Amino acid sequence: MNKCMPAIETKSDLTDSFSRTISYLRLSLTDRCNLRCVYCMPEDREEGLQLLAHDDLLSYEELLRIVNVAVKMGMNKLRLTGGEPLVRKGVMAFIRSLSEIKGLEEIRLTTNGVLLEEKAAGLYASGIRKLNISLDTMRPERFRKITGMDMFQKVWQGIEAAEKLGFAIKLNVVAMNGFNDDEFIDFARLALHRNYQVRFIEFMPVGKNSTWDKRYYIASEKLQEMFSEVGTLDPLPGRRMDGPAKVYQITGSDGSTGSIGFISPISHHFCDTCNRLRLTSAGRLRACLLHDREADLKTMLRSGATDDDVRSLIRQTILDKPKGHTLVEDLKSSDKHPCGGQMSRIGG
Ligand code: 5AD
Ligand code: SF4
Repeated sequence: MNKCMPAIETKSDLTDSFSRTISYLRLSLTDRCNLRCVYCMPEDREEGLQLLAHDDLLSYEELLRIVNVAVKMGMNKLRLTGGEPLVRKGVMAFIRSLSEIKGLEEIRLTTNGVLLEEKAAGLYASGIRKLNISLDTMRPERFRKITGMDMFQKVWQGIEAAEKLGFAIKLNVVAMNGFNDDEFIDFARLALHRNYQVRFIEFMPVGKNSTWDKRYYIASEKLQEMFSEVGTLDPLPGRRMDGPAKVYQITGSDGSTGSIGFISPISHHFCDTCNRLRLTSAGRLRACLLHDREADLKTMLRSGATDDDVRSLIRQTILDKPKGHTLVEDLKSSDKHPCGGQMSRIGG
C-alpha cells in the first residue's frame, strides 16, 4: 500500500462469522465490589471468591491502549462495569482520559450506586450521560439481605443525585422468585412515576459462587403478566443500544407513562443481535457472557505486543464469537452453573 495513504479502517473488521457487527466494548475495571449480592459474590461463599491482585488487573495505560485500538477498528460504544467500577482507585481520571478518545461516541457506566452520590457530578463532567444502576429491592432491610450491606439509603440518594444532574437512568432489577417477586409491581409503579427505565433481568446461572437455583428463576413473560394490574404494556421499537432489552411503554390507569425493559437471556435468547465484546478485569477478551472461552490479551500485551497484534487478537476474538449460548441445553443436563466464569470479573 502507498505509505502516504491513511490506513482504511473498515467496518468489516468488526463483522463476526454470523454477520453481526461487534461495535460495543464492555470493560470490567475491577472484580472488587463494595456489595456482596447473592447472585454474584454472596457473603457466605466468600472463601470461594478469588479476587485479583492489583497487578493482575490491566493498568489504566494498558486499558487506554486497548480502547484506542478498538475505537480505531470502529468500535464506538463503551461500557464500564465490574465488580463495582467506582471502587477502583483513579477511575475518575481514567474516565476523563477515555472521554478524550476521538471516535468513541459514548461511554456508559454500570454501577451499584453506593458511591454515586459523591461521584455523579464528576461523571457528568466527564461526559457520561447514561447510567445503569443495579437495584433489586426498594426495602432497606431486604437490600441488606440481598447485597449483604445496609446501603439502601446511600444508593437511593445516589440515584436521586444522578437524576437531578440530568443522567438518563436505567435500573437493573434481577428478578428472583422468593427474594423480590413481591416488589415487581412496585418497580413498575416506579417506572410510571419517575423518569427511570426499569429493566427486569432473568436470573442467570453464572459463576461457581452464585446461588442460582431453578426455584429462584422467573421467566420475563410471567413477570409481564403481573403488570396488568398496574397498566398496559406496548412494545417500543427496538433501539440498537438497548441491546438485549425488550422495551415497553407502560401506561398507568391515570394516563401516566413510563418505560420497562425485560432482559431474557434464558427464555428468549437474543444472541442473534448481540453486538458486544467483553474485556474481563483479568485482561481477557471474552466474546460471550455465557461462554467461557477467552483470549489472554494481558499476557500478550505484557510480552511486548504491538497495536497490530492487539488488533489481530480483537479481530480473532470477534471471528470466534459463538453463534449463541447454550444455557438452556446445558441446564437440561446439569442443575448447576454451566458457566463457570465469575460475574464480577466478566462484568455482566
Ligand atoms: N443474573 C442476572 N443478572 C445478574 N447481574 C449480576 N449477576 C447476575 C445474574 N447471575 C446483573 C447485576 C447488574 C448487571 C451488570 O448484571 O444486577 O445490574
Ligand atoms: Fe457487586 Fe454488582 Fe456483583 Fe452486586 S452484582 S456484588 S453490586 S458486582
